[in-house]
Amino acid sequence: MIKQADDMLFKNGLGHGVFLAPMAGVTDHTYRTICKSFGAEFLVTEMISSKGVYFNDKKTARLARIEKGEMPAGVQIFGHEPEIMAHAAQKLVSLDYNGCVSEVAPDFVDINMGCPVHKIVSSGDGSALMKDPDLIYRIVKAVSAAVDVPVSVKIRAGWDKNSINAVECALAAQEGGAELITVHARTREQMYTDFYDWSVIADVKKRVNVPVIGNGSICSYSDVVKIKEQTGCDGVMIGRACQGNPFIFREIKEALENKPITPKTNEEIARVAALHLEMICEEKGETIGILEMRKHLARYSHGMRGSPTFRNKCNLANNFSEMMELIKWLEDPHEEN
Ligand SMILES: Cc1cc2nc3c(=O)[nH]c(=O)nc-3n(C[C@H](O)[C@H](O)[C@H](O)COP(=O)(O)O)c2cc1C
Repeated sequence: MIKQADDMLFKNGLGHGVFLAPMAGVTDHTYRTICKSFGAEFLVTEMISSKGVYFNDKKTARLARIEKGEMPAGVQIFGHEPEIMAHAAQKLVSLDYNGCVSEVAPDFVDINMGCPVHKIVSSGDGSALMKDPDLIYRIVKAVSAAVDVPVSVKIRAGWDKNSINAVECALAAQEGGAELITVHARTREQMYTDFYDWSVIADVKKRVNVPVIGNGSICSYSDVVKIKEQTGCDGVMIGRACQGNPFIFREIKEALENKPITPKTNEEIARVAALHLEMICEEKGETIGILEMRKHLARYSHGMRGSPTFRNKCNLANNFSEMMELIKWLEDPHEEN
């Protein structure tokens, strides 16, 4: 089914096509909002269990929260049963979804075909789908038929080096109705290692008619230029390089617009980290907020002199005020703290 909003969203409306990668445990509503404020154009939720949605699991519903300020944003689902995934997608795009606290309905539904984690692939979900392109076709077709927003997929290069089949999977997804395809240039076997091969993105781009988003170790504006030149991809997706560094989206946007780059400063890092703490505690409550904030602060302080001591102190912070006080160190990082 070709949807009315398509031309607006993925074809004419890609802009620079800079996507924030979905990262479970990292890109929650709070962090997506922060990345958006620095220029990430498209956001995707952390992966959401289609079974969890199907069975009205409340914890799952919270992951689907999208607010107006995040748009355009999609919900990402994982699973392997076409009917259950279609049903879940339908619920997620409906604002009546039981327990869902979203202000707005998602602009698109993304299907996870890349998660390499054992728990996920052993159930036949995530990158395990790439072993069965016909199942990919049936899933995308079912989900596409169930919702009136575009459906996209996120695939890897293949399962392992002996089964690089991103083109076959992308064609199956396109045949099923996918209107955007993100290719993470690693196999499942390669997990998140240093190895990646962008040529697989070029191979997919040559064969499909829908926009292709390149993903895998894009860490700077020069990587954006390189991946676009080497693969012809229509957009890019940034993952780990933006952890603790939402400023990367500003750098890329300014460079793409031939504007002078605004360098991040320590004061700015401290200010954004403080805002992050405030927002995450508001989103998830103080107890979970300060626990989850530990890993973010480790990222914000990455490479700074004295960061190991800073991290240790953050790990011992018992409440919001203690952590907020520690964050001031980021303004002027030094060995003794
Ligand atoms: C902690 C973490 C969680 C992730 N969670 C998801 C997820 O929920 N859905 C998904 O499609 N990919 C997920 N990914 C993969 C990223 O979206 C991205 O494809 C991958 O990190 C490669 O991009 P990068 O090299 O820019 O980091 C995750 C990656 C990391 C590191």
